[in-house]
Amino acid sequence: MGKLDGKVAFITGAARGQGRAHAITMAGEGADIAALDICHNLTYPRYSLATPDDLSETVRLVEALGRGVLPIEADVRSSGDMEGAVARTIARFGHIDILVCNAGIADMALTWDITEEWWDIMLDVNVKGVWLAIKYTVPHMIARNTGGRILITSSVAGMRGEPGMAHYSASKWAVVGLAKSLAQELAPYSITVNTLHPTAVNTDIIRGMAKAASMQTEDLIDFIHTGHALPVKLIEAQDVASAALWLASDDARYVTGHTLKVDAGRMLK
Ligand SMILES: NC(=O)c1ccc[n+]([C@@H]2O[C@H](COP(=O)([O-])OP(=O)(O)OC[C@H]3O[C@@H](n4cnc5c(N)ncnc54)[C@H](O)[C@@H]3O)[C@@H](O)[C@H]2O)c1
Repeated sequence: MGKLDGKVAFITGAARGQGRAHAITMAGEGADIAALDICHNLTYPRYSLATPDDLSETVRLVEALGRGVLPIEADVRSSGDMEGAVARTIARFGHIDILVCNAGIADMALTWDITEEWWDIMLDVNVKGVWLAIKYTVPHMIARNTGGRILITSSVAGMRGEPGMAHYSASKWAVVGLAKSLAQELAPYSITVNTLHPTAVNTDIIRGMAKAASMQTEDLIDFIHTGHALPVKLIEAQDVASAALWLASDDARYVTGHTLKVDAGRMLK
């Protein structure tokens, strides 16, 4: 018996990285998956986002576990896209029990060098995109009246300042305020709302940020590593997915408004 048998998880940014790890981990515990990703590049960030082939690979991996999967190409910044994505998921699976707001972008620049366009896109993807997924999913969860789980991927940058990443850090703090407010609004419906705060994870964002900062990826990883208490340079997407699985499961039914660090001890320093 899986921890998520009979559940449906709607996961944004699911084509690769942590989103794919969430999809495989939750499917492995019995959940059917709506896997949403933009699957094309934006004018910002200064690295490539996922491709249609990446999303197909997530679909293949979930199907290999015997679970249903609905791939959705959509932009979390678009109200129309997100309303349609939630409607398609309800049409296919009948309900959404778990919402994982994982899609996000990062980049590095000094605060005064950030352009207005970069600022707007960062906040639109990382904050508005989270809010839109919630806006269209929550009414279904409330109407079904069987509780629910909302997970939002923040970052250690949503708990401390990150020089060279002020717009990213601001966006990751913003979703904590969103989550703590929403957790109170949804508590009467037994819907929990929690944020995940990973340190640097071994995904394409790290290579993308190094490129943006004109750094060698290894130099950036070494710089981050000096902040870790535990002896690890980069954590893996699976480390975050395992923490998310706990929050999504019945084991965490009375955990809400929590900020769960998966940070190799970075916040100890
Ligand atoms: N990798 C890290 O070091 C790290 C650390 C802490 C937090 N995070 C956060 O974890 C989350 C997942 O990132 P990741 O590490 O897997 O990186 P990633 O770049 O591999 O994954 C992010 C996914 O989001 C998708 N995406 C971006 N903009 C989108 C949009 N507008 N609409 C729909 N999908 C969009 C991308 O195509 C990509 O598949 C992000 O929110 C990120 O900020 C990452």
